Amino acid sequence: MKTLSLADEAQTLQLGQRLAAVLARGGVLYLQGDLGAGKTTLSRGIIQSLGHSGAVKSPTYTLVEPYELSGLRVFHFDLYRLADPEELEFIGIRDYFDPDTVCIIEWPDRGGDLIPAPDLVLTLEKLGKGRSATLEAPSQAGQTMLGELTNI
Ligand SMILES: Nc1ncnc2c1ncn2[C@@H]1O[C@H](COP(=O)(O)OP(=O)(O)O)[C@@H](O)[C@H]1O
Ligand SMILES: [Mg+2]
Repeated sequence: MKTLSLADEAQTLQLGQRLAAVLARGGVLYLQGDLGAGKTTLSRGIIQSLGHSGAVKSPTYTLVEPYELSGLRVFHFDLYRLADPEELEFIGIRDYFDPDTVCIIEWPDRGGDLIPAPDLVLTLEKLGKGRSATLEAPSQAGQTMLGELTNI
């Protein structure tokens, strides 16, 4: 486990950039924290660092926003509005996950059993004017990523 303090939005984006470097071969990142904690900001940091130059929309209504970035497939999920995990079946959830893709999942608790297990779990919380970020690595691949992250 690793805890960081992020003083402002720029530091959240910078953590996203570091996470992008360790996720670039594929992996599943869960993003936890209340509304306004900074999950979408962090996702933007990752997605833009992986090569996306436009805006990163919050997929609150679409559930998922796909990106194809120089051969890498990236899926950004926001499951906040998911009423029933079965809705994920209708969007073809099973096709999204293969080991080469990067999956960033906001509100993973709402996904039930249909979403894959995480490599990394990041929890954001308000701390003064900034945020605290706690990073855990429940998988073997995640442990490796966490080790690499400290070197970046
Ligand atoms: N480390 C930080 N310190 C202060 N504000 C931040 C930080 N990171 C992000 N924010 C701000 O928090 C607000 C909400 O962020 P957002 O990413 O939309 O949250 P969420 O997706 O968790 O609901 C944004 O205005 C963003 O600029
Ligand atoms: Mg969000």
